[in-house]
Amino acid sequence: MVFPGCEGTLYQPRQDRYPAMDLPVIQFQEVYKYYRSGADRVTALNGVSMELHRGDFVTVMGPSGGGKTTLLNCIGGLDHPDRGEIFLNGRPLARMNDSELTQIRRREIGFVFQFFNLMPTLTVRENVELPLLLAHSARAEAARVHRLLDYVGLLPRGKSFPAELSGGEMQRVAIARALVHQPSIILADEPTGNLDSDNGIRIIELMKKASVDFHTTVVLVTHNPQVARYGNRHFEIRDGNLSHP
Ligand SMILES: Nc1ncnc2c1ncn2[C@@H]1O[C@H](COP(=O)(O)OP(=O)(O)OP(=O)(O)O)[C@@H](O)[C@H]1O
Ligand SMILES: [Mg+2]
Repeated sequence: MVFPGCEGTLYQPRQDRYPAMDLPVIQFQEVYKYYRSGADRVTALNGVSMELHRGDFVTVMGPSGGGKTTLLNCIGGLDHPDRGEIFLNGRPLARMNDSELTQIRRREIGFVFQFFNLMPTLTVRENVELPLLLAHSARAEAARVHRLLDYVGLLPRGKSFPAELSGGEMQRVAIARALVHQPSIILADEPTGNLDSDNGIRIIELMKKASVDFHTTVVLVTHNPQVARYGNRHFEIRDGNLSHP
């Protein structure tokens, strides 16, 4: 079956996704998240509602402590709201057990971090392969890893170790790793925060291209207004309040 609009792209529709194709990829309904800080209560998310669709490239800005990382962690099931509901591809996260959440995190969500978080003792190729090994995936892995290394322009560096790469190259490895399961969502917490501005822009352009080629929704936190302009949707979050300026 050829999925409309995806002919000739890297995106290969997965059978398990068809029922959810028209639903928002991510939906927040009045989500609240509180933390304790000594005797005080911090409101990290203050009634956040939003809907993100397949292929959205969403940039999120806001002051330090505003709730950006909390927002990503709640989408990724790494943190749980105190009130409200989050749906991923139409399924309520709160009703998933730990093993279902682990599956979702491994297969449906790719993470990209400020400090790359590559495994220093694994080569570039092995870092990209790792999520497949963790998921015991039985698909044609070598070809897939090869294609992704080529996609991010690092095919000749497959046998290098992370310490032998520049920051921009390490982030490209992290992007290939995030894409390896063809996730419906990529969560990126300040992915350019540790790069100079030219390299940062190159990374954002690669992520933007990947969101189209892989039909993936990207939620990207940044402090840089130049990066934020790449979003087709832009949010601000301050004191846990999400706004759509
Ligand atoms: N595990 C935690 N325990 C207690 N408080 C927390 C915890 N995680 C976050 N907070 C608080 O929740 C609020 C939102 O934090 P969050 O990390 O989401 O901010 P942020 O927008 O990502 O900030 P930054 O730009 O500095 O990364 C802050 O007041 C923070 O101190
Ligand atoms: Mg943060």
